[in-house]
Amino acid sequence: MIERPIIALDFPSKAAIEEFLLKFPSEEKLFVKVGMEIFYQEGPEVVRWLKDLGHDIFLDLKLHDIPNTVSRAMERIANLGVAITNVHAAGGVEMMQAAKEGLVRGTKTGAAIPQLIAVTQLTSTSQEQMQQDQLILATLEESVLHYAQCAQKAGLAGVVCSALEVDKIHQATSLDFMCLTPGIRPSGAAVGDQKRVVTPQLAREIGSNTIVVGRPITQAENPYEAYLAIKNEWNGVV
Ligand code: C5P
Repeated sequence: MIERPIIALDFPSKAAIEEFLLKFPSEEKLFVKVGMEIFYQEGPEVVRWLKDLGHDIFLDLKLHDIPNTVSRAMERIANLGVAITNVHAAGGVEMMQAAKEGLVRGTKTGAAIPQLIAVTQLTSTSQEQMQQDQLILATLEESVLHYAQCAQKAGLAGVVCSALEVDKIHQATSLDFMCLTPGIRPSGAAVGDQKRVVTPQLAREIGSNTIVVGRPITQAENPYEAYLAIKNEWNGVV
């Protein structure tokens, strides 16, 4: 289990992240998620900068392409020294294996190989959409569990999933298969556009291995206080 909640840095620029990080004591080393928005705006430099500040990084770029291309891209990503990164399981077992091989090749001697996880079905995809658009004639749950098993078969460390799927995914794979769960809201917090949310405490109880939290921290009046409260609840510290 990763003890620090991963903070989703969903900001439009490095300047906005800088302003946000000023609200934390400089010695507080965070685990942050860098997504497409900020990566496409600022480029890999933003990852190097966050790393130099001492933070751990989940680079959430959800790669999905032919195995060779993904493998070569992952080699570059590993070179950035991120802790976790991801691909779409829909790319197939061979693509996921190639992604992992790329990460191994790109990791500097003596450094830790980034953990690779997969996105199964996006939580924005409904069962109807999946069946119509992807012509997958299974239930959404069957598809999610199948993709999780494919990811495990390819040697990946885990999947991004809803906390409500954790139990079934662990049953279909193994307890140490990482279920990294967004959609976390401390009780009383605004839900926003998330539909199926759970509290940090419930996420722990149902076996999430890692939580990703965005707006309850980034939009809080006091982000550091909000972060500590969520971290304590997640770790069962009252
Ligand atoms: O602000 P909030 O806590 O809802 O942010 C959650 C983060 O996790 C966002 O960066 C969102 O894109 C991401 N995410 C998600 N659901 C998924 C996958 C990623 O909310 N299934």
